[in-house]
Amino acid sequence: MSDDFQSRVTAAMANPQHMGELPNADAIGTVGNADCGDMLRVWVKFKEEGGRKVIDRASFQSFGCETAIAAASLAMELIKGKTATEALAMRGEEFAKDLGPLPPTKVHCTSLVEGALREALAPVGAQPSPAPSAPTAPPPSLMDTFNQPAEKKGGVKVVFLKQIGRAHV
Ligand code: FES
Repeated sequence: MSDDFQSRVTAAMANPQHMGELPNADAIGTVGNADCGDMLRVWVKFKEEGGRKVIDRASFQSFGCETAIAAASLAMELIKGKTATEALAMRGEEFAKDLGPLPPTKVHCTSLVEGALREALAPVGAQPSPAPSAPTAPPPSLMDTFNQPAEKKGGVKVVFLKQIGRAHV
């Protein structure tokens, strides 16, 4: 791993943005990587702007490595103002471009971010017209959902990403 890459990740980790639950989120996505055991959840809130339904705010929680956290922090900023369809067109490498070239062992970390956003945004992107957001009860935290029995109604849907990278080193 290059010192340059590590220093960028360390800098991003020193002041991560958009961490934590987003109250009244319109969309939530959670993914896990079975190889490294890391998990990431994102919350997305939309707003109407110029007749389009665009991302107003997004946040994340992670049981993940520094690279995943740094990439998620960058991604939450990059998707602001985009429609779900536009954000879905973005790839993990785009979210992490400010970190510089990723070592091969860290490519899957950005895929975790992409996967969580895909889980959250795909249902929204498939809607033909904007849906009004209604107040909802705050969703459980990532830790809450881990403590629920898997069969409990309303539990989190964790999607394990396909093997796209190498295991945590
Ligand atoms: Fe698994 Fe980074 S997300 S090591």
